[in-house]
Amino acid sequence: MTRTKIRLEHLTKRFPGQRAPAVDGLSLEIPEGEIVILVGPSGCGKTTTMKLINRLIEPTSGRIVLDDEDVTRVDPDRLRRRIGYVIQQIGLFPHQTIAQNIATVPRLLKWDRARIAKRVDELIETVGMDPATYRDRYPKQLSGGQRQRIGVARAMSADPDVMLMDEPFGAIDPITRDRLQNEFLRIQSELKKTIVFVTHDIDEAIKMGDRIAVLRDGSHVAQYDTPERILVDPADDFVADFIGRGASLKRLSLSRVRDIELGEWPTTAEDADPAEARRTLLASDKGCLLVLDEGRRPRSWVSSDHLAGAGGRRLSEVGLPIAVVTPHATLSDTLNEMLTARYSTAVVVDESGAYAGVVEIDTINEAIRGMRMRERSAARDRLEAESGTAERPDRAP
Ligand SMILES: Nc1ncnc2c1ncn2[C@@H]1O[C@H](COP(=O)(O)OP(=O)(O)O)[C@@H](O)[C@H]1O
Ligand SMILES: [Mg+2]
Repeated sequence: MTRTKIRLEHLTKRFPGQRAPAVDGLSLEIPEGEIVILVGPSGCGKTTTMKLINRLIEPTSGRIVLDDEDVTRVDPDRLRRRIGYVIQQIGLFPHQTIAQNIATVPRLLKWDRARIAKRVDELIETVGMDPATYRDRYPKQLSGGQRQRIGVARAMSADPDVMLMDEPFGAIDPITRDRLQNEFLRIQSELKKTIVFVTHDIDEAIKMGDRIAVLRDGSHVAQYDTPERILVDPADDFVADFIGRGASLKRLSLSRVRDIELGEWPTTAEDADPAEARRTLLASDKGCLLVLDEGRRPRSWVSSDHLAGAGGRRLSEVGLPIAVVTPHATLSDTLNEMLTARYSTAVVVDESGAYAGVVEIDTINEAIRGMRMRERSAARDRLEAESGTAERPDRAP
């Protein structure tokens, strides 16, 4: 059982002149070292909840407990130094350099200059940028995605155990966003911070969350559960509507290539004789061969026509481009790669880029079917367990 890092107890915020509270009696336990996602429609109280946790907004009533200590009334400045905050609009100071922006909290903490400089460079590198190139630039000289990265770096500056991230990847294009999400998950797998992460995007919630709190107006918790449970067993119509259609497809982002059995495929070397390769192809039941270079890295798909027209060229120079995925890729990413490639089979490579197997559409189908079957039997077990409880007498006579 993981330790509770943050406990919110009946937390309420009523803004002056507001009819209903923005946050209405929210109770939530946030386990140490996990990413907890707050997801819900615009205006449901997500940002207010975040600001209550680090007391940028003072609660009307209720308690905030951090590391078993009631911090509802401690000095808010001291509290905020223990909690990194990525605000919704990034909020870098425009007239300060990237280094100065990142150093905001360390300066408040009166670290010496050498320590600050070292930490700043370390963080710029952590978020995947080059310190020498970027430390003296100003925010407007960065792309949106780079600014988001610096926003994350700034929140991590004093190495807080807790990070609050309010739609940290909200305002960027989907491709950059996907990359930032993946990098962030990689960093988190090493740092294991306790993270409260706000999004209005259920797909992002499913991808990033260890647990998800689906919120409705007033920060009322409609369901607080793992991504799997939320997809498989939504608590009510509100949650089901919020997940929307295509729950099966969304489930594909819960499984990764490393979790499934890879298929095998006939291969040929890039310097093989085309006639020889053609015999290999004909002896197989496939329409294409996978061409590997001398490092066994996949290079192209070749059909019988490609082989016939290869002339004197290396086989890696003819044929169709391939969709490559790593074992970390989700099945959803893999399906995407597959559907956009000309030949709809994804090739899996290991850490060194060498061919490790393939994922075919059928494999993905099997995976979905397997998940459905597991869900059904889990639902059956739950029903049986519940009816078992009902039959048990409440009190001994
Ligand atoms: N400073 C404020 N004064 C009055 N009302 C506010 C203030 N901040 C937020 N609200 C209201 O509180 C509700 C929740 O807002 P917010 O927490 O920003 O929602 P979300 O982040 O989920 O979109 C909204 O109705 C919003 O208008
Ligand atoms: Mg908000």
